[in-house]
Amino acid sequence: MPVTEFSVKEKYRYLNGFDCYHETEAIKGALPIGQNSPQKPPYGLYAEKLSGTAFTAPRHENKQSWLYRITPACSLSPFQQDDSAALSEKTLHYLPDQFRWDPFPEPSKPTDFVNGLQQVAGAGDPTLKQGLGIFVYAANKSMDAQSAFYSADGDFLIVPQAGVLDIRTELGWLLVRPLEICVIPRGVRFQVVVAPGANGETEMARGYALELYQGHFLLPELGPIGSNGLANARDFQIPVACFDEPTAEETEFVIRAKVNHRVYRATQPHSPFDVVAWHGMYYPYKYDLGRFNVIGTISYDHPDPSIFTVLTAPSEHTGTAVADFVIFPPRWLVGENTFRPPWYHRNTMSEYMGLLAGAYDAKKAGAGGFVPGGGSLHNTMSGHGPDGPSCEAARNEPQPQQPAKVGAGSCAFMFETCLMLGVTDWALQATQNTTDARSVLQHDYVTHSWGKLPRFWQQPENVGKADSHLLKE
Ligand SMILES: [Fe+2]
Repeated sequence: MPVTEFSVKEKYRYLNGFDCYHETEAIKGALPIGQNSPQKPPYGLYAEKLSGTAFTAPRHENKQSWLYRITPACSLSPFQQDDSAALSEKTLHYLPDQFRWDPFPEPSKPTDFVNGLQQVAGAGDPTLKQGLGIFVYAANKSMDAQSAFYSADGDFLIVPQAGVLDIRTELGWLLVRPLEICVIPRGVRFQVVVAPGANGETEMARGYALELYQGHFLLPELGPIGSNGLANARDFQIPVACFDEPTAEETEFVIRAKVNHRVYRATQPHSPFDVVAWHGMYYPYKYDLGRFNVIGTISYDHPDPSIFTVLTAPSEHTGTAVADFVIFPPRWLVGENTFRPPWYHRNTMSEYMGLLAGAYDAKKAGAGGFVPGGGSLHNTMSGHGPDGPSCEAARNEPQPQQPAKVGAGSCAFMFETCLMLGVTDWALQATQNTTDARSVLQHDYVTHSWGKLPRFWQQPENVGKADSHLLKE
């Protein structure tokens, strides 16, 4: 810390700064000066506006970019529904249970990022631009070099757990490794290349994604923390412009679009990656989770996990998020006379958790419990907390409690939402693989974690049956 030591080294240049106005040109002079749409933009480029908010959104929310490209995005064939993608309109089951999953199975056949996306949970409706979807992905091959994908449903927050993603977007390239995240905004066309790892071999890429149907992610307010801390704005990295030069022969490109949970396919005789320059506030970005400045108690009591918020997507209600992205990285615990793990709780917010590496400090019970690539869901008002062994270990820490570093080599994360999450049939019914019919869903999760919680209750002496609620003469 504070920068992750990645085994696969960086290979791209970036612009730095979250929610800033950026401009970049692959060829000097490609950006018009002083106006956005001249009669003839430089080098014979087309000017194309890409807006992520209404034109009239207030300045502090307004997100638009101007793209200077060889051919506008409108030039393509009619779309046809693509049934090869696993994504399709899902029935969501709203259930009170606590859920935990093993890692979902690796694909049994060649599968790219789009076909490897599976919805686990969700809430709301992308046609109303309300809510979110929670996904896992597993891809063992790159998207075709002559293809791109975009979602009209929302912004994609991608959280790799294994495998390096080399992501080409209309606005430039992002190298996204485990312990980095990226956000691809609604409508931005992108192509996911499954890149070689440190040993030069390409491993299966697996991870999590959150699709935000409403608004965009922001950095959380810092309040009394002050002007620095948590995720700092300058650590977010934005791609620089990069484009395909047209070839003499026309090359057909496939564009896949996610619209209201379904995938559609069109073709076009030109590259979607032909943006020579762009400027604006609407762009993809990535962030190294190792740069997160963790804040915690230096006196007593376990603080609310909101102190670990990397990005937040607010609802209309102040302080209430449609989606928070929260991480639990390595950190020191120093609270005195304190039950240091998370307290037992039931929240109005729903929590989907995943594990990127190592072991999570509030779950010890059982081999194969909460493992990297797995997940858990504690829906609105579903009780949860440390499992029995974690609870006993925390209660039995000798006094005075000593500073302890937890989470070394690990990073858990949480997608938290004010909405009630429904679970898909696929998440409830997936099996380990084609030859192992055991469920990915851990049906023993609750009994394993909390079925045998020890009872510490000690009846005070000389106190009889509890009758403190009765009026006395
Ligand atoms: Fe929780």
